[in-house]
Amino acid sequence: MTENGEFKHLVRTKFLTRPLIDQIFTEADLMERVLNFREDAEIRDYRKRLRQEFQEKGIIVMTLFVEESLRTRFSFECAAIRLGASTLSTENAARFSSMAKGESLEHTIMVASGKAFTNHRYADLIVLRHTEEGAAKRAMKVSGVPIINAGDGPGEHPTQALLDLYTIRKELGRTEDFSIAMVGDLLNGRTIHSLAYLLAKFKGVKMYFVSDPRFRIKEGLRQYLIENEVWFTEKTRPEDFKDVVTKVHAVYMTRVQKNRFNLEDPEQLRIFRSIRELYVMDRELADAMLLDAILMHPMPIDSADSEFKPEILPEVDFHPKTRFLTQAGYGDPTRMAETKILLENWGSIDRIEP
Ligand code: NCD
Repeated sequence: MTENGEFKHLVRTKFLTRPLIDQIFTEADLMERVLNFREDAEIRDYRKRLRQEFQEKGIIVMTLFVEESLRTRFSFECAAIRLGASTLSTENAARFSSMAKGESLEHTIMVASGKAFTNHRYADLIVLRHTEEGAAKRAMKVSGVPIINAGDGPGEHPTQALLDLYTIRKELGRTEDFSIAMVGDLLNGRTIHSLAYLLAKFKGVKMYFVSDPRFRIKEGLRQYLIENEVWFTEKTRPEDFKDVVTKVHAVYMTRVQKNRFNLEDPEQLRIFRSIRELYVMDRELADAMLLDAILMHPMPIDSADSEFKPEILPEVDFHPKTRFLTQAGYGDPTRMAETKILLENWGSIDRIEP
């Protein structure tokens, strides 16, 4: 969002309004039908006109990823391609772009988005993932095209939060009057930050934050929730985990953000090891969740260390309450919706009505 409230970039969830969230979700519903065009004959003409508009305007979406990702980048590129856009991509910009030669983020964005040359740009929309908190905001300030924040260090991940809420809407059937437990590394987990700011806009949402005392939510978020009179509680004793997850409607597990630790430092390694296996969802616990409850995770689930259990055991992958794969799948329609609306708002494409 820009300061005057126009939806020109997607950098944080805090400034999204309810009408805008509704617009994104309505559009995402339509995009689900577009994705399903083989089974839905009625949508084919609309899909054709939409793709024609993207192709005629020569829309290019750039995924500029300075930090590692698989799902988010593929999901954005898939969304762009399904809309009829072309993609330009770098998956390790820190190494393979001029950033490796010391170029500033600002200069990279100015060149890519046409601020430096009035007669040329590489892309009509830039999806940026960066290691530094605040990077997307910096990019937004100098960009001549919409910026979508696909994760800025331990900061925010707004498109993940939107797909998380979309999952809740589809799989739980409502976005108000429900309870959710967010579990894990709440200090470094950017998906949690964006999701909590987003959920704060909905009536009757009760948030339980379950973490080690050293990895609680940040003070800024806590203050925001207090100021906005949002119901929340922080649970920091290991035994709270079971209590909480068996009484809420949605359980949102997260991994310990290993990449935010300096594991060469013995003290940080010690802290990492002490929290790595604090919360593990197994079949027994999934069974004990409320009958209609859903189990979410932004993924990846950390199953790389043979020494530690993953935060959700593989035996839960196909549990009836499990939704994390479905959740990842909702990334495509929601990102198609966000891409389309932003390009419309910049006048880069005309609005095509179904
Ligand atoms: C998340 C991220 O990058 O913040 N992954 C994702 O985009 N789905 C979560 C994580 O890495 O733990």
